[in-house]
Amino acid sequence: MAANGDGFSEVSMEDLMGQVEKRQISTIVFIIAMQKEAQLMINRFRLVKDINSPFPKEVTWVLFNGMYKDLNISIVCPGKDSTLGVDSVGTVPASLVTYASIVAMKPDLIINAGTAGGFKAKGASIADVYIVSSVAFHDRRIPVPGLDLYGVGMRKAFPTPNLIKDLNLKVGRLSTGDSMDMPPHDKESITANDATVKDMEGAAVVYVADIFKVPTILLKGVTDIVDGNRPTSEEFLENLAAVTAKLDESVAKVIDFINGKCLSDL
Ligand SMILES: *[C@@H]1O[C@H](CO)[C@@H](O)[C@H](O)[C@H]1NC(C)=O
Repeated sequence: MAANGDGFSEVSMEDLMGQVEKRQISTIVFIIAMQKEAQLMINRFRLVKDINSPFPKEVTWVLFNGMYKDLNISIVCPGKDSTLGVDSVGTVPASLVTYASIVAMKPDLIINAGTAGGFKAKGASIADVYIVSSVAFHDRRIPVPGLDLYGVGMRKAFPTPNLIKDLNLKVGRLSTGDSMDMPPHDKESITANDATVKDMEGAAVVYVADIFKVPTILLKGVTDIVDGNRPTSEEFLENLAAVTAKLDESVAKVIDFINGKCLSDL
């Protein structure tokens, strides 16, 4: 009797796991630092600004939501800094909106999409769109055993071998820090992180998503070549519009691929 009982519970546990694995992805939350980076996607998926935002009234965070095919898509931007009126880029706002979005919307999948610097020594060119394999920080140097690894905070993105193969995407590691420039200390850490792209949010988004075990993928369009000979900020502003358009095209392909699939199909 005991054996039968065990056998029975094993089967139902397997069924349960199968259902979880095989359930179609339905809710996706995009975390996007700048509304300019998000606007084409907002238009493409016909998302509307959520007037009944689940966020506290004090925050500047902006939520766009709508159905596209079988997917309930939300885009969350941290919005404008309330004092300076500029986009709230960087890891602190990114962590907060990721946390609040997970709590409010319980997404099946998070996508962090945005622009990034790329390293030509690692094969990156302007307007390439990368899917990120892993993330780490490059400006959290803590030379104390154990805390050193905590500072680097390396985490893998959700593996998407079929998506990468089907869409022929470039794959690279991402290094995140709160500065746009690259002083020598950061350069050393970025090299140690073996990064192809460098941004200001990705590792923070994955840190939060990892706490809640929400699978996360990251798409990064290259606006500037960090190891090139032009100032990053100048190149960034010059290429922002064109790269945002490339990023939007890639996001569209990724979303069409994801539609109707389960996490295990990606
Ligand atoms: C989409 O998801 C949000 C967040 O979970 C939910 O509030 C909303 O009702 C959903 N929309 C539809 C059309 O199911």
